[in-house]
This record gives sequence, C-alpha cells and structure tokens, in this order.
Amino acid sequence: MSAQTSDANSAAALMPSKAAPNRPGINTLSVHGGDDRPRAHQAIPMPIIQTATYAFADTADLINFMQHKSWGDGIVGREEYGRYGNPTVRAVESKVAALEGAEDAVLFSSGMAAITSLLLASLPTGAHIVMTSDCYRRTRQFCLTFLKRLGIETTIVPTGDYEALEAAIQPKRTRFIIFESPSNPYLRCVDLERVAEIAKRHRVQTIIDSTFGTPVNQLPLQYGIDYVTHSATKYLGGHHDLLAGVVAARKDRIAALRDARGVLGGIVDPQSAYLLERGLKTLGLRVAQQNATAMRVAQFLEAHPKIERVWYPGLPSHPDHEIAKKQMSGFGGVVSFTVRGTLEQTSQFIDAMQIPYIAPSLGGVDSLIEQPALMSYFDKTPEERLEVGITGNLVRFAIGVEDAEDLIADLEQALRVLP
Ligand SMILES: Cc1ncc(COP(=O)(O)O)c(C=O)c1O
Repeated sequence: MSAQTSDANSAAALMPSKAAPNRPGINTLSVHGGDDRPRAHQAIPMPIIQTATYAFADTADLINFMQHKSWGDGIVGREEYGRYGNPTVRAVESKVAALEGAEDAVLFSSGMAAITSLLLASLPTGAHIVMTSDCYRRTRQFCLTFLKRLGIETTIVPTGDYEALEAAIQPKRTRFIIFESPSNPYLRCVDLERVAEIAKRHRVQTIIDSTFGTPVNQLPLQYGIDYVTHSATKYLGGHHDLLAGVVAARKDRIAALRDARGVLGGIVDPQSAYLLERGLKTLGLRVAQQNATAMRVAQFLEAHPKIERVWYPGLPSHPDHEIAKKQMSGFGGVVSFTVRGTLEQTSQFIDAMQIPYIAPSLGGVDSLIEQPALMSYFDKTPEERLEVGITGNLVRFAIGVEDAEDLIADLEQALRVLP
C-alpha cells in the first residue's frame, strides 16, 4: 500500500477536519451507530419485522395512539401501518443518520424514490431548481420532464462553474441547488463549503447526491449542506442484492419527508431494510478497502502506455483533486479511464477482463465494469454522446473488495488485447 493510500484510510484520516471531536470511528459507527439496545428478543441484528399492519390492544390503546399522532409526537416504538413505518426500517434510518452525522434519516424503496419524493414533497408550482450538469441522468430526466409538467423549472449549470451556479439562482423562486459529488463518470467534485455559502447567501437549500462519496469519505452536512441523498443500492447496501434510497437531514425536515413518504408510498420493504442493515455493518471496512484498491488501480492505469487518460479524484491529474483533498478522507471506489482504441477495441478489452462483471451499478463487493457508451448512452448517436463528454473508449471500473493485485493483474492481461 502506498503511503498516500494507507494515510487516506487510517482512522484519523477518516475524520474530516470539521467532524465533531467525539464522533466514534467509522467502523464503530457502521456496526453500532443508531442502535437501540436491547433489541427485541435480545437479538443482535435488528430482526425483520415482516408485517403490513400493527394491532391495537383495544379501543383505548387506539385512541391514545391517535391522540399522540395528532399532537405530532407519536409513540416511540409504536407503528400504525406499513406504509408509514416499520421497526426494521427505522433501525436502518437511525444507523444512516449516525453515519452521516445527521439528526435523522428516512429510507425509501430506491435512490430514485428518495430523490423524487424529496422534490415532489418540497416544491410548489412555479418553483425553480439549479442543477449541476453531471447529476444522475434519471434525476435530470425527472426534473426536466416530470417536474416541468408541474410548472417547476430547472436550470442546468456546468459542474465546477460556481459563477454560473450563483447567476442561475432566481430571487424568491429558486428553492434548491442539486448536485452530485463525486459525480458519474468523471468523478467531478463540488466544493461543498463554497456551494453551501452561495446557497445560504441566497436563502436557497442544497441537496447533494452523495452516493459515490459515502459517509466514510465525506460528511456533507458538516459543510452546511441541507440534504444528503444516497442510492443505498450502491455502497450502503454493498452487495448488489437490494434496492433502497435514503435522505438524511435536520429532524423537522425528515419528519415532513417521512410524512410525505406515507402519501407517495415509496417505503422500502423490511427484507431489504434488513439486508441494508447487514451491509452497513461493514461499510467502513469495505469502503476503506475500495478506496485503497481504487487508488492503486488508478496509479497503475495512469502509468500504462495503452491508457489515454484516467479520472480519479485521488490523483493529482484530476481537475478536482484539490477540492477532493479538502473535503474527502478517501477518494472512493470508482475509476474511469479511456483506453487508446476504438469503441469496438474497448469492448474487446472489457470482454477480456476475468474478474469484474459487465453490469450497471457500483459500490458492491463484486467489481463491475462498463462502457458508458454502450450502457447508459446506448440509444444516443456518437455525436450526442460527445456532447455530454462520453467517448466510445471510456470505461467505468467500479472496484469491489477483491485483492488489488488480482484486479491489476486482470487489467494487465486484458489490456494486451489492445493494439
Ligand atoms: C448517483 C446515483 N444517484 C441515484 C441513483 C438512483 O438510485 P437507485 O437505482 O437506487 O434508484 C443512481 C443509480 O444508478 C446513481 O448512480
């Protein structure tokens, strides 16, 4: 392990400079964060409470519950109906909140359910959003088509252009600045402090999709960001076996969003919540390994003659390396690169890889590899792809927890198919 990677993953480096001094280490938080002890029946993992509804002992019990609900304080540990809440789901929400350093968090059935519910629940007709250009394409699609139909407009600004971002804010109309950091596929990083400062000056709220970042590598709320969202399908779950999403923020904002979830219906099922809790227990370990391996893979690729260019925020060559260093304690598990070759030759290289699966998604224990031109951008012409910066020779490598030596050896043999 290089000095840089071991340092980036030491316990001390996992604490961003602004972290609360009493915050436990990331692995302790991954295992125990948000835990309610003792668990039901003295279980250690939170049991799967597989129920759609919850019984009342008698009418007096029902009336007592309804009165607390109408007063807005609820009854701790008492649920009413599965669309409004579930103890297994609640346990995961507490853990994510602890990991993000948030007052609370709310879980959804997918990352898209989280983002769309947050926006639908918060925005009135006539509102306006500012969004950076490389936000997840389905989020962009939701804003540009679905929200547009509801009279909500979105202005897209180039990632990294803070003057354009500020200029796009419309007084009294703009409600949110939405961005992703690091973003896909070029791992662009947004300066959290700078965006939070601009937003506060204009009384606009900020939403970060921190899926690629993870709470192991960055804690956006500590930089003044208002909402953190994740596709928990990725690193938080970590095993490519569940779909879930989450939003972490201030308690009152999460309470309002939890209420909206009960209307919009996007709660995650208890089985997936259980898998997510299980996955979260190793989040700190997995991401530390993925950070370290990704750094080694990025360095290997950057030195390889058959590679044209590498994008990894941990490399000094990345355009946002300085921002990443300032606000991240590790640089994540995704490495993007272009090979010296055509789209077809790039496919041959990918087909020659033995360890990673060819699949969309990222963040799990199994490495995944993809050629964005043939995955997310398959239906676009080469010219349309170029407009959004996607070339035929671009590869996205989402590192799992396999040994770095084996992944590098696999890359080495597969690169031999290139001329
Ligand atoms: C950055 C990012 N945000 C959100 C999503 C949507 O998440 P989900 O697939 O869990 O709905 C994805 C999915 O690929 C993503 O990569």
